Amino acid sequence: MNRLRSLMMPAPGSSYAAEVDNLYMLIFWINVIFFLLIAGLLSYFVWRYRRRRPDEVTPHISHNFKLEVIWSVIPLIIVVVIFFLGFQSYMNARIGPGEALEIQVRGKRWVWEFEYPDGMRTLNEIYIPVNRPVRLIMSSEDVIHSFFVPSFRVKMDVLPNRYTDLWFHPTEEGVHTLLCTEYCGRGHSDMLGQIHVVSEAKFREWQGQGDERTRAMPLAELGKLLYESRGCVSCHSLDGSRREGPSFKGIYGETHAMRDGTSVLVDENYIRESILMPQAKIRSGYEAIMPTYQGLLRERELAALIEFIKTQK
Ligand code: CUA
Repeated sequence: MNRLRSLMMPAPGSSYAAEVDNLYMLIFWINVIFFLLIAGLLSYFVWRYRRRRPDEVTPHISHNFKLEVIWSVIPLIIVVVIFFLGFQSYMNARIGPGEALEIQVRGKRWVWEFEYPDGMRTLNEIYIPVNRPVRLIMSSEDVIHSFFVPSFRVKMDVLPNRYTDLWFHPTEEGVHTLLCTEYCGRGHSDMLGQIHVVSEAKFREWQGQGDERTRAMPLAELGKLLYESRGCVSCHSLDGSRREGPSFKGIYGETHAMRDGTSVLVDENYIRESILMPQAKIRSGYEAIMPTYQGLLRERELAALIEFIKTQK
């Protein structure tokens, strides 16, 4: 039974997932039973009441009161039961416990930004401790996005000018995929994130210093990871092709004309400024649409991105 369930749905990662799956499986089996019953009776009647002689006449039956009551009342009871189970489950999903870890979520084209109560901010990635409820307070800076974590069985639209919220209780350590499920422009499919559920001790360590994997990475390699995971990839290509922003190919060491008529040498300080204060200098021919990454990158991550850009020959 559990194998059938895992064929149909991703492994459950939250307390709510089990609830959703149980209801889903209940409805699934009710459907299987009724399908077999109806298809079986249908086939049997086709055979049983087939016309045997050319002059055979079928009796004219207009209705059967007892049968009609049975096939109305039984399904009615079943859907009422499903309604109450679904309603209970829905309320459990909407109303969280009071003592949750609250994280602010901002969707913007095309990244997810998270802010912890202590002010720490991350992009496309959060770490949360296992067995502690988490409440997300979500809003969008531009268009409608939608926050979807299949393994938690939770999904909620993220709207501009209004907060929506979502909560879940992660029950196992592991990595869960976060997707945007509202088509929000060309970078929609890049709005992928990861939710790392870790032990309480690991969570504290990460809050202090970032995760171990990236701490051990050489700068350029970490830069590549950040380029792909922090949203740079949606606007800056590596092969010289033009997107919303300039390609990174061969950019380091070039001299670029700016909108205001000046020209700027692309060096470490210019790249740093462009990441932290993207509106300071706008290259001619491009729109001033890049969001600031101020407060979103650790010092070493900035150095890593700069190093990565330098290696794009
Ligand atoms: Cu954001 Cu699709």
